[in-house]
Amino acid sequence: MGNDNSQTAVPRHVAIIMDGNGRWAQNRKLGRIRGHMAGIDAVRSVVKEAGRLGIETLTLFAFSSQNWGRPITEVRALMELMSVQLKREIPKLIGQGVRLKAIGQLDKLPKPAQKVLESAIEQTSGCKGLTLVLALSYGGRDEILEATRKILRENPLPEEVDESYFKRFLYDPELPDPDLLIRTSGENRISNFLLWQIAYTEIYITDVMWPDFGPENLRRAIEDYAGRKRRFGLTDDQLDD
Ligand code: FPP
Repeated sequence: MGNDNSQTAVPRHVAIIMDGNGRWAQNRKLGRIRGHMAGIDAVRSVVKEAGRLGIETLTLFAFSSQNWGRPITEVRALMELMSVQLKREIPKLIGQGVRLKAIGQLDKLPKPAQKVLESAIEQTSGCKGLTLVLALSYGGRDEILEATRKILRENPLPEEVDESYFKRFLYDPELPDPDLLIRTSGENRISNFLLWQIAYTEIYITDVMWPDFGPENLRRAIEDYAGRKRRFGLTDDQLDD
């Protein structure tokens, strides 16, 4: 897997670590929650642009397993914001043909948030445009550990467990690996995001804070990606064949 070395100008799957909401707010002497509110506006415009550009899958790191450790007031506000906004956006998502999915330890989310999420996933399940994946209460190591536990329960022969076998136990086995991973706010870290899936993913880091990231920034990231040559561990000669 991951060895399909065909490259198109538009990546099939873009994953984004949306970082910098807090600093964006701090720079404006606003509370962190205001940063997350502005972050949601950025999500809205980037989802729209991703669909317009013909990206098939967009995965957003909306809440990490580690984020539960933030002050309870911030966690509560984020959950509330996400539920309210998601519920409000459902008709628009359907109008844009966006199919919603979620990965992560979803059972850890507050019950009302789980309900909104389930309903949004259900209502958009027939949509044929962009697949929007929200990573919520998500951790890459958790995902790998959970997959390993599920595999152990199946009691396979050790030699049966190859990459394609393993992939079937990830949160959503149908998702292709990301072609491009974008991180905002200038940090050079993966932060436990999609550890299994990003083995051959191209990484693009921008200093722009997430609330300031708009359609133009997405297009710039894609242009940068289109100019790269992916080798998947092979030599140039092998790729030219
Ligand atoms: C990182 O900024 C951002 C988050 C932890 C939350 C991201 C979530 C959203 C933008 C909302 C998404 C909502 C939906 C419905 C998809 P930070 O707070 O870590 O910023 P900092 O590093 O500057 O403190």
